[in-house]
Amino acid sequence: MTSAGLYDVIGRRRDVRAEFTGDPVDPAVLNRILEAAHTAPSVGMSQPWDFVLISDRDTRAAFHAHVMAERRVFAESLTGERAETFDTIKIEGILDSTIGIVVTYDHLRAGPAVLGRHTNSDAGLYSVCLAIENLWLAATAEGLGVGWVSFFREPFLQELLDIPPAIRPIAWLCVGPVTSLQHTPDLQRHGWRCPAPLSSVVHYEHYDSTRS
Ligand SMILES: Cc1cc2nc3c(=O)[nH]c(=O)nc-3n(C[C@H](O)[C@H](O)[C@H](O)COP(=O)(O)O)c2cc1C
Repeated sequence: MTSAGLYDVIGRRRDVRAEFTGDPVDPAVLNRILEAAHTAPSVGMSQPWDFVLISDRDTRAAFHAHVMAERRVFAESLTGERAETFDTIKIEGILDSTIGIVVTYDHLRAGPAVLGRHTNSDAGLYSVCLAIENLWLAATAEGLGVGWVSFFREPFLQELLDIPPAIRPIAWLCVGPVTSLQHTPDLQRHGWRCPAPLSSVVHYEHYDSTRS
């Protein structure tokens, strides 16, 4: 791929909720996007992630019901225009996507001496997020959509998927073919929030608090 191709994929990547077709995913493609995730950088080469692939309808229905309940919890915290705007926003594609991929974090992997983590115990979590981003970009390059669902309580997903207590579920990714990818992020299209320009977050020589 050319560098232009990479930037094109970065620009086309979207969080997908409503555009899943539910069509099958080629197992070879699924393997490639998982390989991309597993190739991500990780603190001390710890590769602290696992990927749980979920096709079962009942499992997905149970997770969907939990996410809908958590959506209501968040909705109840809103008032006025925020409540009205949120009402119109779809926050998941759990049942419409082809497959769910739950990405977990194992803090004990490659331990106890994880090179580079002694000053910042969050570095393992950052590694998992990089694996997710690799998967997201690879899926985009393959013409698949991905939607990150975070409206869940970790103990619920641990119990649903037999995840041991020491291992944290970080994301449920809705994955599958899509009709198309939106050009504009959903939250922007629905008036929830617009992305800030790059110039507002780049600082020179020191952190300029007057701009935050
Ligand atoms: C850590 C994380 C958690 C997210 N959780 C959700 C979620 O629960 N539901 C949802 O609809 N989108 C979720 N998103 C997607 C963001 O809303 C989305 O990335 C953002 O609005 C920018 O849109 P884009 O990804 O299409 O560029 C999440 C994204 C990240 C990085």
